[in-house]
Amino acid sequence: MKELRVKWQSPSNIALVKYWGKHGVQLPANPSISFSLSESRSETSVTICPRGGGERFRFRFEGESKPSFMPKIEQFFERVTHLFPFIEDHSFEIDSMNTFPHSSGIASSASSMSALAICLCDIESQIEGRPIDMQKASIAARLGSGSACRSVFGGFALWGDTPDFERSNDEFAVRVPEVHSDFMTLQDSILLIDEGVKPVSSTVGHGLMVGHSFAQSRFEQARANIARILPVLKTGDFMTLADIVEQEALSLHAMMMTSDTPYILFRPGTIEVISRIMDRRRTGEPISFTLDAGANVHVIYPETYVDKAQQFIEEELLVFCANGQYICDKVGTGPQTVVPSQ
Ligand code: DP6
Repeated sequence: MKELRVKWQSPSNIALVKYWGKHGVQLPANPSISFSLSESRSETSVTICPRGGGERFRFRFEGESKPSFMPKIEQFFERVTHLFPFIEDHSFEIDSMNTFPHSSGIASSASSMSALAICLCDIESQIEGRPIDMQKASIAARLGSGSACRSVFGGFALWGDTPDFERSNDEFAVRVPEVHSDFMTLQDSILLIDEGVKPVSSTVGHGLMVGHSFAQSRFEQARANIARILPVLKTGDFMTLADIVEQEALSLHAMMMTSDTPYILFRPGTIEVISRIMDRRRTGEPISFTLDAGANVHVIYPETYVDKAQQFIEEELLVFCANGQYICDKVGTGPQTVVPSQ
């Protein structure tokens, strides 16, 4: 084999029950559940050649070389070499881009690391002449970024051992097959409250859970929320889903606010937006929110509520967004291969 090129698109995902805290080599402190997004994706191509004397890895992001990304890529390759022995004697050219603006604050590690992991599995499957192993892709993605292991599936995925879900484990995510049809079209409008770089990376944030006074209670809460959310995903009860996801989002931020080095990741606009969403739901409207470890707000609502939600966002929430920006996203169908251009 001289040269082989593969190309994949893989989605970002939004967690409903959050992964926050880890141990060992990228093992989660508690189970988490998310859905893959439809529009927020990374597209990554990997070209491998037998290793000569030159550079081992060449990485370009949106057409430009990015030396600052190299440590994360090299760490990923070190962690997955035992899974893909062909890594040892090949050099790699990686080109990646995101469909969402880099400055948007949308976590790109889930989409980019899952895309890269799937590319490696695709290369392996071509070398060995067998189908792509998505379970292995999830393991490899996890070694790049924990949340990335949930992005290798469309719809909803669960990662982390729980007695409430068969086949669940800490090494790879599993698809949640029984989800009510109303939730398979759940909408996520991502309100970009702050375009700046996050004050703390997820990796540092996870680290703050080590020795945190409330860590064990938080892990228990997440486990209990997994047990609560699984039946709700089946029945399609939006209002109960909303209670769970909002508690999860606020707990994640509460942990950051109460760690030994405290962080406030909300911006004033975050508080304004989430208060208005909570008020609206208290009047019986099916609208909710979640947050990741930053200031942006993911507004979650059923497809039947799209017109009302968008009117509400535009009339009342957009004023709190940086440059009046938001991204309309929804549950997606998962990664897909792209025919690489030569
Ligand atoms: C708040 O997966 O980005 O989005 O494993 O260190 O790469 P690393 O962390 P990462 O953490 C994601 C945290 C979260 C919650 C979640 O996606 O479950």
